[in-house]
Amino acid sequence: MAEIVIDNTILASVEDKAVVITGGAQGIGAATVTQLFHAGAHVFHGDLDVEKGTLLDETLKSSLRPLEQTNGYCSGHASGHGHGSVQFLKVDVRDYESQLALFDAALEKHGRVDMAIYCAGVGDRFGWFGPDALDLKSVREIPTPVANVVDINLTGTLYFVRLALAYLKHTSTTTTKNHHLDNPILSSPVPNGNSPSSSSLSKSITLVSSSAGFKGFPGLFAYSASKHGVLGLMRSLRPHSRSVFGVRINTICPTLTDTRMLNGLKAECERNNIHMNTAEEVARVIVQVATDQKEHGKAVYMAGGRALDVEEGIERLEGEWLGGEEWVEDLRRSQGVIGMAYGWGKKVDQVLSNGNK
Ligand SMILES: NC(=O)c1ccc[n+]([C@@H]2O[C@H](COP(=O)([O-])OP(=O)(O)OC[C@H]3O[C@@H](n4cnc5c(N)ncnc54)[C@H](O)[C@@H]3O)[C@@H](O)[C@H]2O)c1
Repeated sequence: MAEIVIDNTILASVEDKAVVITGGAQGIGAATVTQLFHAGAHVFHGDLDVEKGTLLDETLKSSLRPLEQTNGYCSGHASGHGHGSVQFLKVDVRDYESQLALFDAALEKHGRVDMAIYCAGVGDRFGWFGPDALDLKSVREIPTPVANVVDINLTGTLYFVRLALAYLKHTSTTTTKNHHLDNPILSSPVPNGNSPSSSSLSKSITLVSSSAGFKGFPGLFAYSASKHGVLGLMRSLRPHSRSVFGVRINTICPTLTDTRMLNGLKAECERNNIHMNTAEEVARVIVQVATDQKEHGKAVYMAGGRALDVEEGIERLEGEWLGGEEWVEDLRRSQGVIGMAYGWGKKVDQVLSNGNK
């Protein structure tokens, strides 16, 4: 079992990092902004909810001594060891330029972006796939809310990752020449002594998917499809993001978490003895994975505050899962061929020898 264990010594390396985060106005995002700020990071968070985003900045600002406050940009020594700051911007993640402005704000102020965290998300809209509501009359209505879930949860993530790779790479020290293909699962040392430097390993992208991103949840159709997409994006990038861009990438997959998104389901969870997470527990794991230079290519399932990498089990049991080792090798070859076609790999053999999945 690949449990992620919280290590408070790693938290210290958050100090002075420039962090971009979406969905920071409330819930898991707000808890992440708060923890990063108190650990001494410079946090730029964007959200559609201006009222809550601004309120969070004011709350964090008021936690500082008066001398540590400046106009519009709040900075201080909230943790006693850090010099954190926080800045909210109105961002609609469906709008590429809106996200671009968030990255620009961090780059302009600090000359770099070190960590990028995508936390914005919305739940499914009720009724669009419901057996009672779906007939030849109702189906004529264009399901705009379904598309909206996908736009926010998945298209916004694709925009974000593209931007993050460019901004993180901008100040990464990893060479893009003669890049190798990482073993994506085991985070093994890079062959031929071509290891990314520790400064490049500190650059990271962390995406928030869901347990509905690797398991089906009846009722959550657009949501589950979009969150599976987030995991698919991470899986396709992980063989390369570290070696080509000098950027680690991980996905957090919480199950039911006590935020606004859970709506009226909290009592039902308690009645059914479900191990919910708190927003603070999920945030703590996000911060840990974003900071810990060992973490790359993981899909971290969280329940009851505990965190477990589900990719390790898939890798270990792949032969059994696919029905035999010959299927594993066949699949690997097709991954290599597709990679070559898109300029993401040189030889199928290279993919095979690196156990690249
Ligand atoms: N709460 C859960 O049970 C749970 C479980 C698994 C995964 N998640 C995921 O965790 C993440 C955070 O969710 P949460 O539970 O904190 O919910 P939340 O509703 O409290 O927070 C989501 C945030 O995203 C913002 N947002 C929504 N649309 C946006 C847009 N177009 N542009 C910018 N910001 C936008 C909201 O304003 C809000 O601040 C989401 O990606 C969600 O899918 C939540």
